[in-house]
Amino acid sequence: MPDSGGRGCCRCCCSFIFTSGLTALFMWLSLRTTSPACALSKFSIPLDQTKNLTTLEFELRLKNTNKDKGVYYDPINVTFFDSPDRSRSIGSSIITKFYQGHKKKATKNGTISNISRDEVSRAAQGNGSKVFFWVDLATSVRYKILMFKTKRHKIRVGASVEVNGTISKVYPKDIKLKSNAGKIRSYCGKLGVFFANFLVLGLLSF
Ligand SMILES: *[C@@H]1O[C@H](CO)[C@@H](O)[C@H](O)[C@H]1NC(C)=O
Ligand SMILES: *[C@@H]1O[C@H](CO)[C@@H](O)[C@H](O)[C@H]1NC(C)=O
Ligand SMILES: *[C@@H]1O[C@H](CO)[C@@H](O)[C@H](O)[C@H]1NC(C)=O
Ligand SMILES: *[C@@H]1O[C@H](CO)[C@@H](O)[C@H](O)[C@H]1NC(C)=O
Ligand SMILES: *[C@@H]1O[C@H](CO)[C@@H](O)[C@H](O)[C@H]1NC(C)=O
Ligand SMILES: *[C@@H]1O[C@H](CO)[C@@H](O)[C@H](O)[C@H]1NC(C)=O
Repeated sequence: MPDSGGRGCCRCCCSFIFTSGLTALFMWLSLRTTSPACALSKFSIPLDQTKNLTTLEFELRLKNTNKDKGVYYDPINVTFFDSPDRSRSIGSSIITKFYQGHKKKATKNGTISNISRDEVSRAAQGNGSKVFFWVDLATSVRYKILMFKTKRHKIRVGASVEVNGTISKVYPKDIKLKSNAGKIRSYCGKLGVFFANFLVLGLLSF
C-alpha cells in the first residue's frame, strides 16, 4: 500500500531527526570548552627611598575549568598600568607557554624590573583617596580534546587593582580578571556556525 510506504518514510525521517539531534547534543557537550579562570593573587612594587629603580612583582593563578580537556597556553602577556584608564603602562612581563591538564591549577610568578620610582609613586603620596592600578592579560589557548587540539582562542582579561602606600595589593583575596561581553557573543556566533555546518553535513550524508 502507498500509505504504509509514506508512514515508513515518515518514521524513518523522525528517527533521523531524533538521532541527529541527539548526536548534535552529544557533540556540543563534548566539544564545549570554557575559558581558563585567571586571577591576580599577589602584586607589589616595593618603594625604597634610597633607590630610584624598583621591581614590580606579581603572582597569577590560572585554573583550567574544563572537566576533561587540557589547555595549551601560548606565551601570556601581562601588562600593568598605573590607573584604570590604561593611559600609562608601567611595563609588561611574558610568562612562557605551558600545558595544563584538566581541572588543574597553576601559579605563575612574574617580575618587571627597572621601573623608576617617580613613575609609580603617585600611590605613595597618601592622598587619602583610593588608588587603583590596572592589570591586563592577553594570550591564546588551544584546548586538547581527546587526541585533538582545537584552533587558537584569544583571551583578553583585566581588572583594577587597589593599592596602598607601599604599593601593594590592598586585599589579600585574589582579583579575578574578566573579559568584556563582546567575546561571549562571538563565541556563541561560532557555535551557531558549527551547528549549521553540522546539520548541512548531516543532510548531505543522508
Ligand atoms: C636618583 O635620581 C636623582 C635625580 O633624579 C639623582 O640625583 C640620584 O643620584 C639618583 N640616585 C641613584 C641611586 O641613582
Ligand atoms: C604586551 O602587551 C602590551 C600592551 O598591549 C604591548 O604593548 C606589548 O607589545 C605586548 N608584548 C608582546 C611581547 O606582545
Ligand atoms: C612565587 O613566589 C613566591 C614568593 O614570592 C614563592 O613562594 C613561590 O614558590 C613562587 N612560585 C613559583 C611557581 O615560582
Ligand atoms: C636594568 O638596569 C640595569 C642597569 O641599568 C641593567 O644592567 C639591566 O640589564 C636592566 N634590566 C632589565 C631587565 O632591563
Ligand atoms: C587628591 O585627591 C583629590 C580628590 O580625590 C584630587 O583632586 C587631587 O588632585 C589629589 N591630589 C594628588 C596629589 O593626587
Ligand atoms: C599595604 O597592603 C599590604 C598587603 O595587604 C600590607 O602588607 C601593607 O602593610 C600595607 N601598607 C600600608 C601602608 O597600608
